[in-house]
Amino acid sequence: MRTSMNWLAVLPAFASLVLAGSVSAQDTAAQFQTFCATCHESDGESRAPGRDVLRQMSPEQILSALEKGTMSKVGAERSRVERRALAEYLAGKKLGSSPLAAIPQSAYCGAAAKAFDASGPNWNGWGVTQANTRFQPANDAGISESEVPRLKLKWAFGFPGASSASAQPVVLGGRVYISSWEGDVFSLDARTGCIHWRLETEAGIRSAITLAPGAGKPWVAYFSDLAANAYAVDAASGKILWKSKLDSYPLARVSGSLKLHDGLLYIPVSSREESMAADPKYPCCRFRGSVVALDAASGKQVWKTYTIADQAQRTQVSRAGVQSWGPSGAAVWSSPTIDALRNSLYVATGNSYSAPVAPMSDAIVALDLKSGRILWSRQITPNDTWNGSCPETARDHANCADRAAPDYDFASPPILVEDRGGRAKLVIGQKSGVLFALDPDRKGATVWERRVGEGGTSGGIMWGSATDGERVYAALSDAKRVGREIDPESGGGLVALELKTGKLLWNTPHPDCGSRKPCGKVQAAAVSAIPGAVFSGSVDGHLRAYSASDGRIIWQFDSAREFATVNGVPARGGSISDGGVAVVDGMLFANSGYSHHSGIIPGNVFLAFGVE
Ligand code: HEC
Repeated sequence: MRTSMNWLAVLPAFASLVLAGSVSAQDTAAQFQTFCATCHESDGESRAPGRDVLRQMSPEQILSALEKGTMSKVGAERSRVERRALAEYLAGKKLGSSPLAAIPQSAYCGAAAKAFDASGPNWNGWGVTQANTRFQPANDAGISESEVPRLKLKWAFGFPGASSASAQPVVLGGRVYISSWEGDVFSLDARTGCIHWRLETEAGIRSAITLAPGAGKPWVAYFSDLAANAYAVDAASGKILWKSKLDSYPLARVSGSLKLHDGLLYIPVSSREESMAADPKYPCCRFRGSVVALDAASGKQVWKTYTIADQAQRTQVSRAGVQSWGPSGAAVWSSPTIDALRNSLYVATGNSYSAPVAPMSDAIVALDLKSGRILWSRQITPNDTWNGSCPETARDHANCADRAAPDYDFASPPILVEDRGGRAKLVIGQKSGVLFALDPDRKGATVWERRVGEGGTSGGIMWGSATDGERVYAALSDAKRVGREIDPESGGGLVALELKTGKLLWNTPHPDCGSRKPCGKVQAAAVSAIPGAVFSGSVDGHLRAYSASDGRIIWQFDSAREFATVNGVPARGGSISDGGVAVVDGMLFANSGYSHHSGIIPGNVFLAFGVE
């Protein structure tokens, strides 16, 4: 009798121990509603991908995002079992049904690989030039306008575990340098795609790599990650030379690409706090944008200049009973621009996150290259205090200081360029849909401005424009939403303006996607140009080339499909966004797949094209 009583007492505990290995679908659905839906199911223009986008990912990709990707802070609050259950629930598939492929040894270049040699054509850093022109001259491009229609896929490479492939590719010495949102950096052979080296870093990487010879030593690759670390690694071997933390603020990240000039690295700092403020319980906001200058040889900080002079102070208590802070925001999302002639570094900032508004938000800021002192700033949009709790349809506006704020960040960097009359201009597109030409010699006074898009929280003009010194080429994002989904009819198009006057020369709308589902016209990816041709990717998965003179589409490639890869990792393409293509030595390199900001088709492929 006593024995059986004991068994009765023990049984329930034993049963729950076994059950603890799995979570019921009902509990997982409830977990999603409690911990994720505020951002992932709000009808508003949240930055968080919707259920439809998450469903296209593999459970492994979602788990990876929760454990070491963009959602790792949110994921850390759930148990391992819960994270796995959420991953299976959101993907609608069991873990293990599409396991992350290991990269086979045969994908590596091996002993036959040529030694590192930096000579020859290159695309180095985000904007090809220190001025962010994104124009590749004929000698380096090695592809003429007439050859563009004959571009054919040569090889494809899969990023293991990634749901986005979007960093600007960099090519130097016949090697491609490319990173992923999963924190992998690869150096690949440009002709064959074989791997010279792979480095796993602490966090995902969104920005481009910059290469330069070290002081009397071998070439060095410099880059920064989404945990706000900067790295210097040996360009030939991938060995880490130094690693440096740029900002101790927990949500700080680097999204824009760094620049190197005269021994100093200039690194823009942004943050995820703007999106996290969608959570009514989040004490919004204390992040301040900045530029950090590091000694390239040692990684030691030389100066750091904030876009908001003082630390945030306590302001009011929100409707959700949470202490608010401000001013905050003015993140630097994009790459700085070097102007050695004027000893200036130009950066463009985003909106304020919380009240009071920061005077250098949505602004162009000029800093002294040597000291980081602010030389001048020009605010383009005043009173723009926006965060993830502001959209009309967000569930709760507890953290929103101004429901009417437009969210008109600068997501593109300033381009420094001389027009054909020899006059210097800073050209920049804004999420407002307006392109500006500003005068660097008159503290950013407007030379011309032209509205080319409607503008909105998802652009206007997003990641970057290009110029050949005669015309400026800008792609239009202009994503609009119907509920959570991007309106398939909204946005897109490529425009060309005369650099000197801002006159509209041509405007080529997105050509439509026919019966393709999901569709989207949004063209948010940075534009790249070569003499006679301009390249622009779309979230519909197409990469298109346009004639520079009249905007005719002269080539297109649909990347939203599966690819056989040279490294054996299953890969598919999808939305193209963020970085643009690199054209180097007769080849064109492009990423495809994007699950972030306005991306509708996740993917993990890197594509290399050549002329046939
Ligand atoms: C406070 C808002 C917020 C909450 C809460 C939140 N997310 Fe996210 N999530 C985002 C944003 C914003 C992004 C896009 C991040 C980016 O693009 O950098 C995102 C991206 C993702 C992605 C895609 C990552 C990738 O690499 O493509 C996954 C998967 C994800 N979230 C899962 C979850 C799950 C599961 C939960 C709940 C446990 C959750 N999120 C809670 C805001 C949130």
